[in-house]
Amino acid sequence: MTATVVLDMADLPMQRPSAPASAAQARARFFNSGNAFDVKLPEVPARLFAPPKEGRFGVFDCDQSQALGCGFAATTPLMLARYVRIAVRDALLPLDVCATGSVWYVISGGGRVTGAVDSFAFGAGDVFLLPGASGYRLEAGAEGALLWTVGNEPQLAFERAQPAPVADATIDAVHYPAAEIERQFELIFSTGTRDETSGRALIFSSDRQAAARNLTPTLTLSFNTLEPRTHQRAHRHNSAAITLVVQGEGCHSMVGGERCPWEPWATLVTPPGAPHSHHNEGAHGARFLIVQDGGLHYHARTMGFQFLEAVQARLQA
Ligand SMILES: [Fe+2]
Repeated sequence: MTATVVLDMADLPMQRPSAPASAAQARARFFNSGNAFDVKLPEVPARLFAPPKEGRFGVFDCDQSQALGCGFAATTPLMLARYVRIAVRDALLPLDVCATGSVWYVISGGGRVTGAVDSFAFGAGDVFLLPGASGYRLEAGAEGALLWTVGNEPQLAFERAQPAPVADATIDAVHYPAAEIERQFELIFSTGTRDETSGRALIFSSDRQAAARNLTPTLTLSFNTLEPRTHQRAHRHNSAAITLVVQGEGCHSMVGGERCPWEPWATLVTPPGAPHSHHNEGAHGARFLIVQDGGLHYHARTMGFQFLEAVQARLQA
């Protein structure tokens, strides 16, 4: 009997060691440059998630793990966005942050964070950052609280990694109260911009991350604005983006050629590499909060930011 002759390297099946002398040797597998690169992962869907309806309490994942083909909750391959609604005073929500960091925006109500870090009170419009840890507790005030949060849980889950203890974390808890955010916006709006600047946006960082201009080593946070009847120039980048609509009547985004109308407090997913632009056809200024895995891409030198539209086109629009 003659063995089948394989003419093309790509047609070779996965190879195993012929005579493994140990369990560790037996685990070896071999591919080649013809058959190792045929794994096609599903695209990241450009999806819009709505906030939980009134009267629904708990943690609501913006989960598209099924579409992404991964075995853990994920909004993009490396980030997870969630809404958290806590009931009125005395309701404590125990929470573990299985990420190196998570950013939070308080949509409505107020409350207090206790547990793994020094406790602090939060109110509507606040942003805060928490290092990964177990044993957080969220407590709502008299009006309850609705929060939005994004962390890099999927990045850690991909490698089954655990966050460092708070004392060894790369970030500390950071609180950006709404009044301070407004002060920063006033400062930005009191200045001019160069034509090439991509709109007016507030970038959040901290004492320990200021050199990198990041929020965490992995994540970036930007609070973008759009004047009425303007748009942010079409562009692309290799970081995925998760956007929360904060104020956006008459606004929409174009993502990969698809029109995505904004809904109040909706979460919009911009897939990595997708051409996109944001449009305000309404009568009021728009605001939207954008978390990206930009820190990771800056570090890897893979950001690949590119404008896809000339400045002149923006001025005529
Ligand atoms: Fe973008």
